[in-house]
Amino acid sequence: MPTKLEVVQSLIPKHDKCREIGEAFAPSNIALAKYWGKRDTELNLPQNSSLSISLNNKGAHAKIFNAKESEIIINQHAIDLASSPARQILNYLQLFPAKAYRLELEVNIPFAAGLASSAAVFAAIALALNDLHSWKLNVKSLSILARLGSGSAARSIEHGFVLWHKGQEPDGSDSFAEKLDIIWPELRIGLCLITEESKKISSRVGMEQSVKTSPLYSAWPNYAENVATQLQQSLATKDFSTLGSTAEHCAQTMHALMLSAWPSLDYSLPETLQLKQKVCALREQEIEIYFTQDAGPNLKLLFLAQQTAQIQQHFPQLLIINPFEVNHVG
Ligand code: PMV
Repeated sequence: MPTKLEVVQSLIPKHDKCREIGEAFAPSNIALAKYWGKRDTELNLPQNSSLSISLNNKGAHAKIFNAKESEIIINQHAIDLASSPARQILNYLQLFPAKAYRLELEVNIPFAAGLASSAAVFAAIALALNDLHSWKLNVKSLSILARLGSGSAARSIEHGFVLWHKGQEPDGSDSFAEKLDIIWPELRIGLCLITEESKKISSRVGMEQSVKTSPLYSAWPNYAENVATQLQQSLATKDFSTLGSTAEHCAQTMHALMLSAWPSLDYSLPETLQLKQKVCALREQEIEIYFTQDAGPNLKLLFLAQQTAQIQQHFPQLLIINPFEVNHVG
């Protein structure tokens, strides 16, 4: 089983033309078929394939420079290099050729609140390193590099619908994400922010705890793999009811197994449950809306453009994203 460093060295060219600055943007992504549980914790290899939608211009912009000493600046503030997000980023940067890097990140989505900001951050870093060192890597290699930072970052290399193949190889060479050739201009994602606080249990720890202790975990990999297949079918036929209900059920199943771990993982707040009930009540009134939830209390809503006005009435604070609107930040 190779180490992270060996994987990086097998992917990047031996010699590179280092420029003064590398720069890139990567979108956050929301999984509709969730990734929960690793078959390899070193290389972030998942137990199941997953499928996501990228959040257009919501995500992370990275600027990276060769430096004498490491520095990380997030939204114009230098962060303490001993803090946990900084350590995670520094461990990742250590895999790459320069002795030290100065990294400037602009993140326009709350950090570590289960809104997939770490996916966008690691994907943006991988893309910016590719730019700095002029490696000219293909999307598959970039997705693998991003995965080494955070699993779901594998999917943030691309816009639109993205499928992360779980792969089977021990070195993870077939575990990468690719964009699906499907555009759904009417699809909307609503971000319901309950709190901007960081999650208490990281997804890395939560996954390990679930795989080790949940009596429900053995059913998950097959179930989630089937969800990914079913979602691809509903995307091909633009069947929103199946897409939404399958995605919502997948999130609820993931939270059921999180709750069944020991110590039990409860990522919800009372407001999370209230919002879920509100979504279900709206569906009873023929307003077609579904939710999904990750490793945090915030909810993401799925609906179609024609329902926007009604949904805004019920969720006045909702941040609405059109994943296919052409305004990607470059
Ligand atoms: O990539 P990580 O380690 O932050 O894990 C992400 C896990 C979920 O957000 C809960 C699900 C997913 O597929 O994004």
